[in-house]
Amino acid sequence: MTNSHSDALVFFGATGDLAYKKIFPSLQAMVKRGHLNVPVVGVAKAGWNLDQLRARAKDSLEKHGGLDAVAFEKLVGLLRYVDGDYQDPATFSALRQEVNDAKRPAHYLAIPPVLFETVVRHLAESNCGRGARVIVEKPFGHDLASAQELNQVLLSVFDEADIFRIDHYLGKRAVNNVLAFRFANTFVEAFWNRHYIESVEITMAEDFGVQGRGGFYDQTGTIRDVVQNHLFQVLSNLTMEPPVRSDSESLRDEKVKVLKAIPPIEEKNLVRGQFRGYRDENGVAKDSQTETFAALKLEINSWRWKGVPFHIRAGKCLPTTCTEIVGKFHKPPTLIPDSLLVENHLRLRLSPEVTIAMGMTTLDPDAEGLSFQTGEMVASHSPRGDEMDAYERVLGAAMAGDSTLFAREDYVEEAWRIVEPVLKKNTPVYQYVPNSWGPDEVERVSPPGGWSNPGDKKLVALASEAA
Ligand code: BG6
Repeated sequence: MTNSHSDALVFFGATGDLAYKKIFPSLQAMVKRGHLNVPVVGVAKAGWNLDQLRARAKDSLEKHGGLDAVAFEKLVGLLRYVDGDYQDPATFSALRQEVNDAKRPAHYLAIPPVLFETVVRHLAESNCGRGARVIVEKPFGHDLASAQELNQVLLSVFDEADIFRIDHYLGKRAVNNVLAFRFANTFVEAFWNRHYIESVEITMAEDFGVQGRGGFYDQTGTIRDVVQNHLFQVLSNLTMEPPVRSDSESLRDEKVKVLKAIPPIEEKNLVRGQFRGYRDENGVAKDSQTETFAALKLEINSWRWKGVPFHIRAGKCLPTTCTEIVGKFHKPPTLIPDSLLVENHLRLRLSPEVTIAMGMTTLDPDAEGLSFQTGEMVASHSPRGDEMDAYERVLGAAMAGDSTLFAREDYVEEAWRIVEPVLKKNTPVYQYVPNSWGPDEVERVSPPGGWSNPGDKKLVALASEAA
């Protein structure tokens, strides 16, 4: 099958939450940029008609990102709707009619994973799957076995090259910028390894709770929701070796290779937490043992990283919303006593703004003698309103047949291999106060010198430049 651009986009789950919050805004943005000019067919079982779907799209845009009258009119002109049960072959016959001329449709399954198999089988039986691509939403399975099963279902109908497993973190420019920073700057290679780096931390903090998604979240928890996928993608970009060719598979090979070097997480290296009040959320069990916070330590047994601990932390109801990486350098072998030295670090903030900062020790200009401070050299960029959103980027890439921004089958399976054993151990869940940095027990997996909480550091900017 050629790598031609998809000539129709079908999205299942058209009346759902994801479509409302993310897909319609991305579709409008794609239209506005001139990147979408093919039929867009929503499918759902809601008893709706096309006008109702259009009204929903309008409402979605008004609430999420803003309605652009011209682009919206164009989008409305592209929009179609098929209403029906996913179990019913008639739904797929109707879909066949709607995408009749399309030779390379892209079917986007923005639906709960339990429905994937049914929809994929019907796509095949109704011939809607012929020549098609399929885009699936995370979570991709809930453990290794279910991910493998899901892969089998998809591979029974589609080639791997036509399967696009969404992890929207791969659509974030800031996440890809980690690769650019590492591989487009010669100086980084000199220090980004075990010889210079003592430890690396990745923090994904959110200052909100489960936002009405209690039912989903209680079945999922932090590790499955954001660590096994989003934060492992960040980790891979931070730690993989440079790809040997520029095609998508060479890049994805390196990601798989680095995950292969990570042993399964040990029980003693994981702390799970749950914010007080979580059990009162709708859809959450009164005795829920699901984590809303996780902190863990892992190792990468590669030539580059052996012996360097990686500390990953993510949670809901923390003091701020920010995703940040801090790599701490070893202390220099200087005559200055350790107790007087302050920290050298590289800080990469991925959101809300994008920052690259080098933290270094300098003499405190306001003091005398050996008194030091950490100053940061900062390059920072705050997103403008018109930048491409992650969903827009990944949808566009899938329709163009570019796999670079998607998780490959073997990658997903490796990621499950690392977290599954400890997930199945049902380790304790410690309560924490909302607006704190998680339970006290988190210290057990702290980096040397303690966690770097975004926003906590009292740093002196040495120089600053807007990127
Ligand atoms: C989603 C998770 O995949 O990512 C959410 O299900 C989380 O729980 C979200 O809040 C974070 O994404 P972003 O783009 O806001 O960092």
